[in-house]
Amino acid sequence: MNYKTQLLQKIEANTEVVGIIGLGYVGLPLAVNFAEAGVKVIGFDKSEAKVNKINHGENYIKDIRDAVLREVVGKVKLEATTDFTRMKECDALIICVPTPLDKFRKPDMSYIEAACTDIGHYMKPGTFISLESTTYPTTTEDFMLPIIEATSKQNKYWEHKNFSPGSGEISEGQRGDNSDNNDNPTTSSFRHGTHFWLAYSPERVDPGNATFHTRNTPKVLGAMDADGMEIGQALYKKAIDHIYPVSSPRVAEMVKILENTYRLINISLINELALLAGKMDINIWEVIEAAKTKPFGFQAFYPGPGIGGHCIPLDPFYLEHIAKRFDFDLSMIHTAGHINMRMPHYMVIKISTALNRHRKAINGSKILFLGVAYKPNIDDERESPALEIMDMVAKKGGIVSYNDPHIPRVKTNHGATYHSVLLTKEALEEADVVVLTTNHTAFEVDFIQQNARLIVDMRNMIKDASDKVYKL
Ligand SMILES: NC(=O)c1ccc[n+]([C@@H]2O[C@H](COP(=O)([O-])OP(=O)(O)OC[C@H]3O[C@@H](n4cnc5c(N)ncnc54)[C@H](O)[C@@H]3O)[C@@H](O)[C@H]2O)c1
Repeated sequence: MNYKTQLLQKIEANTEVVGIIGLGYVGLPLAVNFAEAGVKVIGFDKSEAKVNKINHGENYIKDIRDAVLREVVGKVKLEATTDFTRMKECDALIICVPTPLDKFRKPDMSYIEAACTDIGHYMKPGTFISLESTTYPTTTEDFMLPIIEATSKQNKYWEHKNFSPGSGEISEGQRGDNSDNNDNPTTSSFRHGTHFWLAYSPERVDPGNATFHTRNTPKVLGAMDADGMEIGQALYKKAIDHIYPVSSPRVAEMVKILENTYRLINISLINELALLAGKMDINIWEVIEAAKTKPFGFQAFYPGPGIGGHCIPLDPFYLEHIAKRFDFDLSMIHTAGHINMRMPHYMVIKISTALNRHRKAINGSKILFLGVAYKPNIDDERESPALEIMDMVAKKGGIVSYNDPHIPRVKTNHGATYHSVLLTKEALEEADVVVLTTNHTAFEVDFIQQNARLIVDMRNMIKDASDKVYKL
């Protein structure tokens, strides 16, 4: 029996083991979804703290219900480890590691590289591998495949002689039975299509979204060959309701970049129009509400202090990296990125203008920011424009504090650490200006409006006009 048939049989019988590499916002919900479907899951993470938390049933991702995590850990359907040699126990390995930018704003592929190296060293033959991290098109085939093939030359699987035929594994002694597999993996690399299959399936999760979560968000899947697609679909359908197959990993990679770039460009457009509308004394929020009444051809995007999060601000740099290799200039995406990069500067001008009208300067004023998360009702402050605005204001001599019900402590881009203050009547009264940076539903708008002396509202939280409220 070849590896593919054996793996499909395991998936059919629900006896496969799924390894999830990287247990963050993306990896942990996926791990829980597989475990809830009765699949044995091993989560791999470099962070001992996260691994210990999971193994004690302690949840650190808001989109997962504590009781569900406790249940799947209690049933030993999900366990976490820092021992990457245990990849040999897995039939599928799904990579959910970070894809940030390096200090030169270039893709930092070191996390994917590290995961692929571990996979090459420790996977067993017959493993399905899928990447979910956001990246540039061609990553799966041109970046990952060579690393996995090369590192699999030092694969440790065959050193473990205790895989007996009875255990359901194809042991070293059985290798002759595998018609596709007569080479010696101790001296040659594992081969794609024989010993492993590679696919890309972008994670589209929208943290904090009450309607769409991992299971009911359709999943795009692009595999390198038909066998990989068959295995990938059989596996993923246990955790995800709807799988949408595409012809290759690079199509799937481009799908994710398209989705995020679409948002980037539309947010940039509305931010630019908001700035113009401000100068022309036009309320941009009223404009958007009216435009939304058109039942076709218009989708509303809302202005704000800039874009944040792990994906949208970073993805253009990933695309640019690969576009350069094809001698292609992404002028529209450049412009959009540029507009968004300038937004925090405009917001500082807004704060300064508002204070100025009250005969005050940023220098020496107490400035209370409400919300440092990059979007409402989540605990993620990565790339949040609020942090940049706080840094700029502090540099001008502003006395900065913040409240965020979801984030008790932050470190800004310039390395300053702040602790969330209590949102009391006194805190609002004491501030020379209160800046609404994130529209968390926990913020009581009436209470803020009643007690703050001056407000800069970057999220249209305060609907009625008032002398002390300055809007974006
Ligand atoms: N957060 C989102 O909303 C979101 C949405 C869609 C896609 N994505 C993409 O998914 C990927 C993961 O994002 P995230 O938000 O879950 O990141 P995260 O930082 O929350 O989690 C990543 C985890 O990977 C671990 N890790 C790092 N290197 C590792 C390695 N070599 N082996 C094992 N574990 C390792 C980290 O310790 C961390 O726990 C990124 O590419 C991101 O762009 C994120």
